[in-house]
Amino acid sequence: MTDRAATGGATSTVDELLAHLATPAGRADPYPAYAALREAGPVVRGQDGRVAVLSYADCLSVVRDSRFAHHTQESMGEALGPEWKAHLGLRQMFGSLLTLNPPDHTRLRGLVAGAFTARRVQALRPAVEAQVQALLDAMEDQAVDGDVDFVDAFAFPLPVNVIGELLGVPTADRPQFRAWVRDATQVLEVLTPRVVVKADIAARRIRDQLEALVVERRRRPADDLLTALVQAEQEGVRLSEDELLTTAALLFSAGFETTVGLLGNGLAALDAHPGERARLLADPALTGPAVEELLRYDSPVQTVRRTVAADVEIGGVTVGPGTQVTAYVGAANRDPARFDLPDRLLLDRPGNAPLSFGGGIHFCLGAALARLEAQVAFPALLRRFPGLRVVGPVARRDSLTLRNLTSMRVRLAG
Ligand code: HEM
Repeated sequence: MTDRAATGGATSTVDELLAHLATPAGRADPYPAYAALREAGPVVRGQDGRVAVLSYADCLSVVRDSRFAHHTQESMGEALGPEWKAHLGLRQMFGSLLTLNPPDHTRLRGLVAGAFTARRVQALRPAVEAQVQALLDAMEDQAVDGDVDFVDAFAFPLPVNVIGELLGVPTADRPQFRAWVRDATQVLEVLTPRVVVKADIAARRIRDQLEALVVERRRRPADDLLTALVQAEQEGVRLSEDELLTTAALLFSAGFETTVGLLGNGLAALDAHPGERARLLADPALTGPAVEELLRYDSPVQTVRRTVAADVEIGGVTVGPGTQVTAYVGAANRDPARFDLPDRLLLDRPGNAPLSFGGGIHFCLGAALARLEAQVAFPALLRRFPGLRVVGPVARRDSLTLRNLTSMRVRLAG
């Protein structure tokens, strides 16, 4: 491990590169910094003691090895400050299934996992297909002089409607969650006072809205996931009301914010690679591998974080308890030791296994659902609008953890 790395002739220290990744320019295009960091080693340590993991093999270890865990609820105060529990925005994110350790993680995940099995998700295919066709029709209606915003018209409504139906969030309520979820999830990126205040406000709104739906489900059960959670809570010990609301908020937020990224980043990548895009249009059998490659090429989630629970060696570096570790899964997906020509988009890439959904006990619960949505969406989109192209402007969310677009203007006919 060295502390210097080359970037296009100049050399930057590891700290400079890590700092760059926390700037708007670094977040907008992290790939050159990843490549430069990788030259310093598969695992690097910043001056603040934080450890950054770049290689595929080591990122896989981080997500699979239980010595890389999350803060316990008791130790959260050290990381976030003693007042952290007073912030709903922090409690809702860092007290959720996503950031809990066993046994609480196991109990909460067990309650909802049944709704997201491959079989249950495949049963949703006809509903996803119908939703996609309706959105394609609406895109034509909304276009002005042939142009439309792809994120507003398709990448946001598809996943928010799919998870909204599953959970039982009414259609009319869904659009307002877009800004709330963006603000609530920004705490995964950075914890400035301004970000925390905005997350608190957003988390309160999300919670109020879901609480009203929970009250309704107690009175009138429905055939949805929210009702299933309410029934689990009513059985007593298995789920507190706070856990119910936190879990519902996580499922709804994770259910669309990430998938907006897959659809937006994926279409941008296809637009930049017309040859690959033409192959996908011509060969429906390429759809499954193509979605894996789009996930790899520009992952909607770029980092996952852990705290070391017990001494562990990673990439030749020994790290002790309490060390903060960031696994850059977006960098692992471009690791030349794992992927030939990692910076090329190759829709039929053999042996592809991106780390975009993480791994181990926190492996993305919604992976099958996100894959289904993308596998239905991309071929249908290309068939309906074979000449579709990105004309810009393209705006990106200022976040590395959640890498997605906030708007992208497209022309429907080429
Ligand atoms: C966890 C990525 C879609 C729900 C995760 C993790 C990643 C991820 C990397 C693990 C985080 C960690 O280990 O710290 C993605 C990507 C998606 C996507 C790239 C879309 C392309 C979805 C959808 C849902 C969902 C559609 C719907 C319910 C969850 C939940 C967790 C999770 C509940 C926490 C699981 C746990 O901690 O046990 N996701 N996700 N995700 N995801 Fe997704």
